[in-house]
Amino acid sequence: MAPRKLSVRDLEVGGRRVFVRVDFNVPLQKGPGGSATVADDTRLRASLPTLRLVLERGGRPIAASHLGRPKGRPVTEMSLLPAAARLADLLGAPVRMAPDCVGAATKALARDLAPGSLLLLENLRFHPEEEANDEAFSRRLAGLADLYVNDAFGSAHRAHASVVGITRHLPRPAAGLLMQAEIEALGRLRGTPERPYAALLGGAKVSDKIDLIRNLLPRVDALLIAGAMAYTFLEARGVPVGSSRVESDSVEEAGAILARAAQAGVRLLLPADHVVAPSPDPGAAARVTPDERIDAGLLGLDIGPRTRAAYAEVLRAARTIFWNGPAGLFEVPPYDAGTRALAEAIATSGAFSVVGGGDSAAAVNRLGLAARFGHVSTGGGAAIEYLAGADLPGVAALEDAPAAPRGDRAARRA
Ligand code: 3PG
Repeated sequence: MAPRKLSVRDLEVGGRRVFVRVDFNVPLQKGPGGSATVADDTRLRASLPTLRLVLERGGRPIAASHLGRPKGRPVTEMSLLPAAARLADLLGAPVRMAPDCVGAATKALARDLAPGSLLLLENLRFHPEEEANDEAFSRRLAGLADLYVNDAFGSAHRAHASVVGITRHLPRPAAGLLMQAEIEALGRLRGTPERPYAALLGGAKVSDKIDLIRNLLPRVDALLIAGAMAYTFLEARGVPVGSSRVESDSVEEAGAILARAAQAGVRLLLPADHVVAPSPDPGAAARVTPDERIDAGLLGLDIGPRTRAAYAEVLRAARTIFWNGPAGLFEVPPYDAGTRALAEAIATSGAFSVVGGGDSAAAVNRLGLAARFGHVSTGGGAAIEYLAGADLPGVAALEDAPAAPRGDRAARRA
């Protein structure tokens, strides 16, 4: 069930400076002239409803984020400056970039912020105290504002100063609109989703998803395994996988998951055929295997057509779908075909579908299918941890929503 948290809508933001924790951890690219630009602005767009709400209600937003993992020191390539430029375009309002996230100059900019404009702080992780959830640093961040809103679902699994520590120093820490939408959609999957419930898991690593799979097994009717992690499962079954990427440390765990699925009566599907090549290079000759075995010297790079059809059939029959991780080497055509086929099957299934962040969300956006999914999460690790059953520290730190009046509660139950 989704925890009900105080919303930014419930705050009196008029005239107040509002510290809005956003997740602008976005990929950058070199633009014309050599300057960095934002390569994928999905997370920036996702923050707009909250930032606009604060601005429209006369609040003065101070947005703060991390970008990358600069290990506690300033790294020019990890500056949020390119995000500030893109945000100003998207928002259609002035965005002022602070030289740092704390310090006298930043404090003065926050104090003098004009209504109708936004201040973006420089990368929080340029200070080691951010990740250490340092108390004094949390207080310094809080000193910039009057109110706190967390709209950074993608960072909600990190107990850092701007996510957790700061909430002890500003009144009524509230959830932003994106945060609310995320916990509502993912909460539906943690509650009692409509059956059949199918989970499609791809991507490279089984080890990143062991807790997720353990938590999903008793809840789902079908678990479809694709992407490179399928080779680790096939290896556990004793199927030859050639030179495909196998996580040898996780083979035993994969075997245990197969046994547990069989015990629980969950349909766990592994690829029945593959697209293989001697190397992942775009020019290498690709072919489809006749069955689930991969010959020596060949690499599995995508699910084959029989697997696509079998998985698509399960997805089309589902009423609830969770998807995380691409089915193959999506960035290199023709190995995007499996991911594309499954994304289309989900989009046309009529099921309530949730895509859990990262590469699969990027794939859905690139295919132009986002509008046909129930929810495309902006959180990769956060979505996985949430569905693995964890309480996210960034959500737990927010104030609970006031209990609904009795009449409303009855209406909601009806
Ligand atoms: C993400 O992109 O998953 C979040 O921004 C968290 O980033 P992190 O894994 O570096 O903490």
